[in-house]
Amino acid sequence: MRLIQLTQITIGAVIFLLSGCGYEVTPSTTSFSGPVVPSTAVTDTFSAIQKNIIQPSCLKCHNGPDSIADLSTYDAVMAYVSPSNPNTSDFYTLIDSGSMPKRAAKLSQEAINSVKSWILKGALNN
Ligand code: HEC
Repeated sequence: MRLIQLTQITIGAVIFLLSGCGYEVTPSTTSFSGPVVPSTAVTDTFSAIQKNIIQPSCLKCHNGPDSIADLSTYDAVMAYVSPSNPNTSDFYTLIDSGSMPKRAAKLSQEAINSVKSWILKGALNN
C-alpha cells in the first residue's frame, strides 16, 4: 500500500515537472540584457568619466543645450550632481538604478563605482 502511494506521488511529481517544459518564458521587462560598457576600468576623474562613459553612452541623447539634459560639458553635468552626495545626484542615481543610459548597453559596475567615487571626492573638474 505504501509503495503504491509513493509511486503515485512520484508519477504526480514527474507529470508536474514535465508540464512546465512547454511553458514559454517571456521576459517580464524590456530592459537591455547585452554586454556592459565600458569593458575597461574608469579612473574617478571627470576627464576619464567624460571620455569613457559620457561620450560613448550619454551624448547620443544629451549633447548640448537643446537636448533633454545637457551633459556635454563639466558645468552642464554639474546641474545633475551634488558634490560629495552621490545619492542626491541624478547623474549617479540614474546610472546606479539602470534607468540611464536609456536603450543602450548597461554601464559596468566598475564604471558606476567610479562616478560615485568622483562625486564623493567633491566632483572636481579634474
Ligand atoms: C537613448 C537616449 C538616452 C541615452 C543614451 C541617455 N539618456 Fe538620459 N535621458 C533620456 C531621456 C529621454 C530623458 C528624460 C527623462 C526620461 O524620459 O526618463 C533623460 C534624462 C536624463 C537626466 C535628467 C533627469 C532629470 O531629472 O532631469 C539625466 C541626469 C540623464 N538622463 C543622465 C544620463 C546619463 C548619465 C546617460 C549616460 C550614461 C544617459 N542619460 C543616456 C534619454 C537618454
